[in-house]
Formats: sequence, C-alpha cells, structure tokens
Amino acid sequence: MSDLKDKSIIITGAAGGIGAAIARALAEDGARIVVADLSEAAATKVANEITAKGGTAIAVPVDVRERPQVRALIDKAVAAFGRLDVLFNNAGVAQTRPFLDITEEDWRFVTDVNALGVLIGMQEAVKTFRKQGGGGKIINTASIAAKQGYEPLAHYCASKFAVVAMTQAAARAFGKEGITANAFCPGVVATDMWKVIDKGFRDSGLTHGENEAFETFAAGAVLGRASRPDDLVGVARFLASSQSDFMTGQSLLVDGGMVFT
Ligand SMILES: NC(=O)c1ccc[n+]([C@@H]2O[C@H](COP(=O)([O-])OP(=O)(O)OC[C@H]3O[C@@H](n4cnc5c(N)ncnc54)[C@H](O)[C@@H]3O)[C@@H](O)[C@H]2O)c1
Repeated sequence: MSDLKDKSIIITGAAGGIGAAIARALAEDGARIVVADLSEAAATKVANEITAKGGTAIAVPVDVRERPQVRALIDKAVAAFGRLDVLFNNAGVAQTRPFLDITEEDWRFVTDVNALGVLIGMQEAVKTFRKQGGGGKIINTASIAAKQGYEPLAHYCASKFAVVAMTQAAARAFGKEGITANAFCPGVVATDMWKVIDKGFRDSGLTHGENEAFETFAAGAVLGRASRPDDLVGVARFLASSQSDFMTGQSLLVDGGMVFT
C-alpha cells in the first residue's frame, strides 16, 4: 500500500490513456488529484468519475506549452488542496514522419509539448516546492523512445531523450533541497496516441493494415503483449510515494521487456 493519502498531486495529460489510469489509481490510494489536460471536457469526465467513487479530484484545463497556464494550474492545486506534493509531467503528443519529411513545424509541435512543456512544468513546480520549504517530487513520462532512436519518429525520440536529460539535470540542480526528479519510460501502450502513430505509419506507406505498426512494435516485448495504461500504475505509485525518496535522476523502463540498458 502506498502512503499517498491526502497528497496533492497534479497529473498533466490525465484526460485519457496513461495519465487517466494513474489519476484513478492514486485517487484510490487517497491522494487528492488535479486532472490537468488540454481537453477540459475529457479532464472533467475523469475527475467526476473519481469523485463519484469517493475520491478527491478537480479538473483544470492547461496547455503545458504556455507558462502562465502552467503557473495558474499549480496555483489552483495549491488553492484547492493547500500545497503541491507531486507533479507528473505526462502530457505528450506523437507524430509519425519519415526522417527526411520532418519539417520545422513538425519538430516544434512535438518538442514544444514533450520537451518545453516538461521544462516549464518542472520550473514552475520547483518555485512552489521552494515556497513550501523544500521537498517535492517531479515525475516525467519519457518513453522507450528516450533510449533508442526509431525511424520514423526521430523528432518524437529527440523530445523524449530531452525529458531524460532534463530529469537528470533537475535532479542535480535541486537534490540538496530535497526535491527529486525521476522519469518512467513506457513501451507500446494501447492508448489514443498509438492510433495516431499507427495511422502515420499507414499514411507514410510504411505499413498497410490497421494496427499493423502497433502489433509489430508490441511483438518486441519479451513479456509477450502490448502494454495497457494500468501497467504503468505500479511505477507511478512507487515514484510518487516515500518508497522512492532516496532515488533521483533515474528513468525507469517499464515496457514489458523491449529495451535493455
Ligand atoms: N502510448 C504509448 O505507447 C506511449 C509510450 C511511451 C510514452 N508515452 C508517453 O505517455 C504520455 C501519455 O500518453 P498516452 O499514451 O496516454 O497518450 P494519450 O494521447 O492518450 O494522452 C495524452 C494526453 O495529453 C494531452 N495533451 C496533449 N497536448 C497537450 C498540451 N499541450 N497540454 C496539455 N495536455 C496535452 C492530450 O489531450 C491527452 O489527453 C505521453 O507523454 C506519451 O509520449 C506513451
């Protein structure tokens, strides 16, 4: 059992997929959850589901690329729950493009959300952790694409390598204040994101059948299946709880055995 009761936790990109699974699980542990997402309607649905089951959650719309919105998100969490204990920088976007077709616009779209969004989230969380007198946990969602370059996802991979780099840098920068930064790296997870990636493979002529790219990648997991969002709940619970207090700067692969480092 985790010790997350009454902890104030923000999860970005929590309106669906991995973020929503983590939000539901940590709420069951008694944490107070801010379901933050670009889609206010979908975030509200997840928050309402949690409160209907007796948990505590609010929904806050945010675009993680926009610093004033991220600042307002953290201030709302503090106003609602008295403090901030944990920030999950989980919001992300993916895009499939053959290497030579990636444009500057594609690069900016993917890296703005996945890398700049994480930088802003970490910076604004640390300001609040400092005001609270130190301590606090930052947990970033990286990927197997943070450990290997995959064609045709070069810009996505670059954005996720950046997440690992920033996680290490933040761990060094803020460790003395008791602030930790860690990441987890999912493999191939059945969420809406893979629908986008799979369609991109087909549109690029790299695969033909629906779900072909998804199934081909998932077959690389030695545990023999694709991941489900719930497969990431254990690592999220560990990283958010005091069980991981003496760990910082790490990026844990939880991918069913796809990438070994
Ligand atoms: N699905 C996978 O196989 C997989 C693998 C490795 C890593 N990841 C990472 O896991 C995280 C969650 O992805 P998922 O698979 O649950 O996908 P998803 O598409 O189901 O969820 C992503 C969420 O992020 C939100 N979002 C997108 N842009 C945003 C922005 N600018 N501001 C705020 N919210 C925004 C979306 O609205 C969505 O609810 C992402 O960082 C993704 O890169 C996913």
